[in-house]
Amino acid sequence: MKNILITGSAGFIGFHLSNFYLKKGYNVFGIDNLNNNYDPRIKKWRNLNLLENKNFHFDKVDISSPNQLSKYFEKNFKRRKLNAVFNLAAGTGVRKSTLNPKRYYESNVMGTLNLVSLAKTYSASSFVHASTSSVYGNSKEKDFMIGSETSKPLSNYAASKKASEVLLHAYYNLYKQNISILRFFTVYGPAGRPDMSPFIFIQAAINSNKINLFGTGNQKRDFTYIDDIVKGISKAKNLKGLNYLNLGNNNPVSVNYLIDTINQISGSHLKIDKKPSTPEDVFYTSANIRMTKKLIGWEPKINIDEGISKTFAWHKVNMRWLKKIQNS
Ligand SMILES: NC(=O)c1ccc[n+]([C@@H]2O[C@H](COP(=O)([O-])OP(=O)(O)OC[C@H]3O[C@@H](n4cnc5c(N)ncnc54)[C@H](O)[C@@H]3O)[C@@H](O)[C@H]2O)c1
Repeated sequence: MKNILITGSAGFIGFHLSNFYLKKGYNVFGIDNLNNNYDPRIKKWRNLNLLENKNFHFDKVDISSPNQLSKYFEKNFKRRKLNAVFNLAAGTGVRKSTLNPKRYYESNVMGTLNLVSLAKTYSASSFVHASTSSVYGNSKEKDFMIGSETSKPLSNYAASKKASEVLLHAYYNLYKQNISILRFFTVYGPAGRPDMSPFIFIQAAINSNKINLFGTGNQKRDFTYIDDIVKGISKAKNLKGLNYLNLGNNNPVSVNYLIDTINQISGSHLKIDKKPSTPEDVFYTSANIRMTKKLIGWEPKINIDEGISKTFAWHKVNMRWLKKIQNS
């Protein structure tokens, strides 16, 4: 049975990726520090869900602590082949990274360094790393290519992710590990992040709450459905050498479009409180996925209307306990 390590397994994407591999019969080792960056009750819900499968093994570990992490590797992978490491643990949230930059750099940069170095020591066959469209900053290009400008980040979050990419480049140069750096574009779906607009807006539609809208709502995002992201991550695991890939829908829509879609699906009319946009926010994101198609044959399958419908259905089924989840 193949053994894989998924960091940030109680997080949104880590939870879905863990489920994907458990369904395929893998032995999944999940770690997470279960921090309170957003309401930890949803992390506990995801974790309990995963623990129902006997092939899921969870430990509370902080990847920014070299000590904790090396003890964890020794305990679990000294006598077991480690096939792949998926590094999804990170300080997340663009605006929040302004409040506590140190924590973002510790997890996103030092955490990545600790992990890739242990992945090398334990001869993991591949290291798959979550990066972000935020590294493109306020790019003016119609769609963002891997080779586009990424040295002008607008937030500590983006800067820390760029730094993690750069250190992985050096690691590849030195040790020739198989490393895939995946730049995700605004991911959404069931059991999503309570600090992101699809979750917040859907909850508000169900509970007749007001929403805050930063800026005009004309800002566009390349919203990408979670199942497409998980398929992309799993395909990237098989790549050899160092690779950078965009995983995005390649069809950006405005935040106003997202609101209209949620209104239509829910039959509600979201009440909006307008707030000024913040300096961390980019105006537009759009993934150029030509290289992704070429390298792993990946294309997104779920458009925003279908993705929001599926997400809304999950919120309705889970509405009782979700009512208690705080939005930030
Ligand atoms: N969701 C998106 O739209 C999106 C977009 C671009 C990139 N990403 C990246 O994808 C990855 C997963 O994102 P997500 O949306 O699932 O976020 P998330 O916040 O839901 O998940 C991250 C998980 O990592 C854990 N974590 C944070 N610091 C840690 C540490 N030092 N040690 C151990 N665990 C730690 C958190 O507790 C959390 O459960 C992140 O690296 C994120 O930067 C996400």
